[in-house]
Formats: sequence, C-alpha cells, structure tokens
Amino acid sequence: MRSTQIRQTFTDFFTSRGHQLVPSSPLIPDDPTLLLANAGMNQFKPYFLGEMPPPFPRATSIQKCARTSDIDNVGRTNRHATFFEMMGNFSFGDYFKEDACAFAWELLTQGYGLEKDKLWITVFKDDDEAEHIWRRIGVPASRIQRLGMEDNYWSMGVPGPCGPCSEVNYDRGPAFGKEGGPAIDGERYVEIWNLVFMQFQRGEGDKKGNFPILGELDRKGVDTGLGLDRLAAILQDAQNVCTSDLLLPTFHTVQDLAGRACPTEGEEKVSFQVVTEHARSIAFLIADGVLPAKDGRGYILRRLMRRAIRHARLLGIDGPVLPATTASVIGNLGDVWPELTAQAALIEQVVTAEEESFTRTLAQGTRLLDAAISRTQHSGSAALPGETAFELADTYGFPLELTVEAARDAGLTVDEERFAALLDEQRKRAKAGGKAKTAEALKKMDTYRELSARLPRTDFLGYDHLTAEATVTGLISGGTVVTTAGEGAEVELVLDRSPFYAEAGGQIGDTGTLTLHDGTVLKITDTRYGLEGFRVHTAHVLQGELHTGASGEAVVDAERRAGLMRSHSATHILHAVVMATLGDHARQQGSLVEPDRLRFDFAHFTALTPGQLHQIETAVNSHVLDDPEVRAWHADRAEAEAAGAIALFGEKYGDTVRIVDIGDFSRELCGGTHVAHGSQVGAFRLLSESSIGSNLRRVEALTGHGTLRRLDTERRLLNELADLLGTRPTDAPDALRKRLDALTTAQRQLARLRASELRHQARLLAAQAQRTGRGQMVAQPVTGVAPDELRGLAADTLARLSHGPAAVVLGAEHDGKALLAAAISPDLHQSGTQASQILAQAARVVGGGSGGRGPLASAGGRRPQALNEALDLAAREVTRLLGEH
Ligand code: ALA
Repeated sequence: MRSTQIRQTFTDFFTSRGHQLVPSSPLIPDDPTLLLANAGMNQFKPYFLGEMPPPFPRATSIQKCARTSDIDNVGRTNRHATFFEMMGNFSFGDYFKEDACAFAWELLTQGYGLEKDKLWITVFKDDDEAEHIWRRIGVPASRIQRLGMEDNYWSMGVPGPCGPCSEVNYDRGPAFGKEGGPAIDGERYVEIWNLVFMQFQRGEGDKKGNFPILGELDRKGVDTGLGLDRLAAILQDAQNVCTSDLLLPTFHTVQDLAGRACPTEGEEKVSFQVVTEHARSIAFLIADGVLPAKDGRGYILRRLMRRAIRHARLLGIDGPVLPATTASVIGNLGDVWPELTAQAALIEQVVTAEEESFTRTLAQGTRLLDAAISRTQHSGSAALPGETAFELADTYGFPLELTVEAARDAGLTVDEERFAALLDEQRKRAKAGGKAKTAEALKKMDTYRELSARLPRTDFLGYDHLTAEATVTGLISGGTVVTTAGEGAEVELVLDRSPFYAEAGGQIGDTGTLTLHDGTVLKITDTRYGLEGFRVHTAHVLQGELHTGASGEAVVDAERRAGLMRSHSATHILHAVVMATLGDHARQQGSLVEPDRLRFDFAHFTALTPGQLHQIETAVNSHVLDDPEVRAWHADRAEAEAAGAIALFGEKYGDTVRIVDIGDFSRELCGGTHVAHGSQVGAFRLLSESSIGSNLRRVEALTGHGTLRRLDTERRLLNELADLLGTRPTDAPDALRKRLDALTTAQRQLARLRASELRHQARLLAAQAQRTGRGQMVAQPVTGVAPDELRGLAADTLARLSHGPAAVVLGAEHDGKALLAAAISPDLHQSGTQASQILAQAARVVGGGSGGRGPLASAGGRRPQALNEALDLAAREVTRLLGEH
C-alpha cells in the first residue's frame, strides 16, 4: 500500500466515524512553551485543558512533527526519524479508552490488513482497565505487556495535558531482533500507534524528566498518534524508514551523489541514512518558515543541516549535498505537502548558503584544530583540552564529533568531560534568567484560567465603536481574583463588552478610560489576551473604589488608536510591497504595530540596497495615494485559503477567520483594526533596515503624524545648519563642502609649520650634545611638545649627531603627567642595548614603568615634579653604558 493510500485510509476511517478533519498546523507552533510541533495534539492543547471550548467533539489530522530527542538513533535503528507525519484521532471529552482501542484495532486489522497475532500491546503498569479492554477485543494476555512512566505515560515534554498510554506494536519477525515482545526489543516489535488517555495536567519538569501532576482535567480525552513512516515500512515490506516510498527517492539521490550503493551494515550505512532522513526534516522546516540561526528552532535546523553535510563528507561526497537531496524530497512529497513546492526556491537558497558557510567553517575549524593538536603533542599531553573543543564548537560551530575524530587520528583523546561541564555551565547561565519568570507566569495563568472558566467571553466592539457601556465582570489584583480595589490600585479587569483591542498580530493593545456610574474613574493602560480569547484590561484606579459588577462607559483613546490603525494598514501594504520587490520568500516573520510607527521583520538573505529601500518606500506611498479601499470579511478556513489569503506562521486554527483586503494587492488573515481607506495612512517613511539574525531582516517605518513630526524635526535641523553656515538650506551642502576643503588646507599648513618647528628644536638639542665615555649624549627637558611628538623628536635629535655611539633622552610635562622618550644609535642597539633600559629607573621615579625592545622607547608617569631627577638618572645610565663600551 502506497503512503498516499495509507493517509487516505486513515482519514476516511475517522471522518466516517464523526471526526472533523483538521489540517496539520505549521511546524512552528502557536505555543510559546514549545519550539517545534512535536505531536498531533499540539494544536488542540487548549481544548484538552478546557481553556477553550472545542469547536467539535472529535477530530482527526495528519500532523507534521519534528523531534530531535532521538537524533543519535537515526540510521542506527530502522525506525527513528527527526521528522515524521503523525496520523491521529482525538476526542475532547467525547469517547475514552474503550472506543480508542476499538477504533485502532479495527483500522489496523481490517483497514490495513495487519495480521492480528503479529500485534502486541503495551499498557501503563497500573492501567487494569486498558488491559481488560484489549482482552475483550481478543488480544491474548501473552501479547499484552505492562510498562512504567518512561514508556507508557505521555506528555508533550512541557506543561500541558498528559496521561497514561497504550501502544500497539508490530512484530517484524526474528530477522529484526530478539523474541519476547516490545518490552524486550523495540526493533523487532515496532511501536506503531500510541493511544494516550488524556486525564491530567502536568507542570514544569526537572532535568530527569520528572514532573508534577497539577490536577485532573475536567474532561478526559483521547490523543493518538500512528507513525506513517513505520506503518509504510511494514506495509511495503521495507527494511527501514529510508526505504519506504516516503524517502526512497531521496535515498537513491544520496547513493547517486556518493557514486555507490549503501552497504547493509556498518557506519557507512548510518551516514547514508542520516543524509536521507535529515534532508526531509530540513526541507519541511524551511518550508514552514524556520531559518538557520544560533539558537532556538533555527539552531535545530542548523544542527540537522550540519549533521547531514558532515555525514555526506564522511561518504566522500565533496560537492554540495543539500540542494539535490532536498529537491528530491520536494519532488516526492510536494503533491501531498504543497508548501514544499511553494517554497522550493527558498529551500534551495537557504540550504545552498548554509552549506557554503559550513564548508568554510569546516576549513577554518580544521586549521585551528590542527594547531591545537600540535600544541598538545608538544606539551606531551595525551588529551586535547576540553576548552579547545568547546571553543571550536561554541565560537566556530565546529562539531565535537569532528574534533574527537581528528584528535583520534593524531593519537589523542579529547577531554570530553570538561567539554560537557563547560557546555552545562553555559546552558545554566542562559537558563537562569528565564526560570523565575516562568514560575510567576504559570501562577498568573492559573488565575486567568480560573476566571475565564466562569466568565462569559468578552464581546469585542472595537472594530466599529470606540466607546461602549460595559460592566466589570472580573477583577485581579496581586495575581489573585478579588472583588474590590481601592483608589490608587493597579488591577487587571475583565469586561462583559469592550471597545479595547487586545494586543495581537503585532498590534499593541488599546488604552483609554473607564468611567463608572458610581463616580469611580479608571485609566486603562493596556489590553492583552491573558489566555486565548480571554481579554484582560490593565487599569489604574484614579478615583473612587472599584467593585466587580459596576458598570459605566469605556472609552478608547481615539487619537492613539487612529495611529495604530494607520500603522497596521501600512504594515499590510509594506508586506505586499516587500514580497513584490524581493520575491515570495520575503514573507513576514513578525511585526510590531505602534501608533504612527511600525517594525516589520521578514525573511531575506542580504541587506537591502539604498535603491531597493527607496523603491519600497515609493511603492508603499503610491499605494497610499491611490487610496485603495480596506475591507474586512469573514470566511471559513478553506474559503480563506482558496481565496489566497496569506496565512502567517502560527496562525491559530479556527472555524472562521477574518480576512483583510487592501485594494486588489493585499489579502491577509488578520484580526487587527485598520483604516477604511488607504490614504488615511498618510505619508510613509522608512527609517532603518538591519539584520536581526541569519536570513532575517528588520525595517522600521513611520506613518501619519509620525512622518510629519519627523519631517518637522529634519526641517529644523537643516535650518539650523544653514544658519550656522550663513546660507540658505539648499546651498548648505556646497557651503559646508567649501568649509571642509578650507579646513583641510589649513590643517596641512599647520602640520608643515609644526614639522619645521620640531626640526628646529631637534637642531638646537643636537647642538647641546655632550661627550661622555666613547660617545655622545643629549639629556634635556623640553616644553610645548605633545606626547605623540616626543619619540619623533628624540629620534630626529639622534639623527643629527655625528656618527658613533650616542643616546638621546628627553623629558616633558603634558597635562600634569611626565613623559620620557629615549633613542639610541644603531651600533649601541646592535650590541644588545635596548632604549627601554635607559628609561627603566627614570620611569620608576616619575611613577611609571618602561619596557619593550628596540632602539626607541617611551614611558610616562604621574609625577612631573620628578622629571629633572629622572633625566639625571637616565643620563647616569647612558654615561655608564658609554663608559663600558
Ligand atoms: N501524542 C502522542 C504521541 O506523540 C500520541 O505519541
């Protein structure tokens, strides 16, 4: 059975049993606790937790998942992968264990035709109920095994829903491993389907993976995951995940590049499989908007790319490997996952750039590593220091495995323990900051959860109204629910209806006032979502006492809101223009919409040229001047996608979505507030463009009054400059250029004069030379000489003395400090004397030091009053030297 049919069979089975088919969410999850989507249930987390009412009681999906927890097993086992398609069925308080097991059994044995006696079951050690259900279905006790927390209890790995699980495993036969069931051998008895009985809520875990259970869920649910790769391998009788039809074409590409077939055993086989498997993860991650970076999800992508490149090099593939392998993934899976095809150009550009830069890293790291290896060999040590390996990894991105390997070739080991300790220290440092915040945030979330569970949803009126009659339905002070708050208190409050826009989609929240009928007055300083769909107003009680249940008039600060609407519409126009100018890859990656000011982040590889920036600014302003209509409408998701609305990453799945059109050139899913006509944006002005990460650019811009204020400031500056130059603004550049030229000429003249003055001084000093021993000496204080001139003066004086051994020592006072300089003749220097020797004692007397080698030296100190004494000491030293020779 081909994988297309496997997917179809799955979704047909569950949709015909009342499950709503839901598309996969992007790999970048809409959940700040999670880096990458790692299970089908991620997008349904609020339904399991009861934070949002589920729009349907049952669902089914085929979810793109990325997990790197098993990355080291890739290629070493038949079954592990870093990307997979997880087919799942979900119940939100609808059916539970009984139906979940029955569905799985029926689909596997009838839909996919798997032999019953090859199926083995594991259940959680205390879960008698699950075992009974399987027995009733007809599974003999001999093929049911019980396992503990590690194997048969599931959570996302972060706070969220969790519960015991039961797994269905398939016996691939004695060729694959040892007898004895999944508890004994996971290669022979492959886990294919995990049925999770969602029942509890877990908190933050510790390093070992232990986590507290915070309580039982109001409604129990079911979350399952059937691994498409593993099932396809079984149904297609493929040895491993690289040889089912999901990856086979890519596996062939790797073998073509290597110019030979993958062996059946050994390290080479691992490398062939790693390159194949990682190519798929890389293509999917980039298609969903992940770009290589130093940390976060971008680092996961970078690590996958670097591992794939490294394993390709181990196979002797010296040329580029990622472009061809990811292209083969796109060719094979692009029909099922259209985002791959849509982003094919971006994928190619990103992998090509990263492979080029990593190839350079490898070359640079190898040079540094060779030097470190030879240093270690010379020192007689057998181990390369952990510090070296760490620096290579941390600063140069040079993987530890490579360091270990190169060291091994040179007969050395690497102090990996020290390396691990350094890595650990670094992680701890990075984490320490984030921890405390998390605990506080979790507590606050509990309060929000409590309130949102019992209060009706706030009716949002802010698209059409800036004032509204509203009642305070909930009140939070100091992180807990209260019913009153006195004058001066800072509170958070919930309203039954509200004209205040809550921060979302980059647009910051509204501010304004709430004046209650009982005379209490509040200033609203921010509006946010505490939880999905749960609006919270941050307020300051200016006057009177606030009680839950009080009502009055809520008024949004209209001028500020108008600025926000201008900036939000301008952001949409800018997005359309940036993509039209730079290409489809330049999609929005984030934005901040403030009154009359915006920040816009997008994917791009290089800095924008001044020409491109000007082109973008001009195009945005042309759109504004054309005065396009701005129109918001609602549609269900399928309609929206068919209509070509740009879906931003992490956009939440929902029944109906809001779409904002501007003219005929911009269409986006958006919940924000906008102007009615494009011209209301006013003048648009780009302020800056910069890099905020690899392949990520940021522009900042002004709109409306922001631009006008800016123009005003610039005009004032220009007038002031023109006034200073005594000309009109239009003539200012010419006038300034003339003055700069005159200044340069004057500076040159001054430098010439100064040089001739110094030459004159050198002549005078040379005339005062004294004979001592077999040579000549000058030791004199000088005045009016700058620190950077003193050494030159000493050297020039020396040059004016007749041939033979000679030394010049000069002292000067400058800015309350003592300066000394010495110059000695070449013959003295060649016989082993350093100019700094002459100054050694003298420097100490003025409170400084002198060192270094060479015929010229200087020194300085804080005691100018000791200059004469210092010069005497230096002169004595010279006399001694010249007497000796
Ligand atoms: N969420 C469960 C898993 O990922 C089904 O294994």
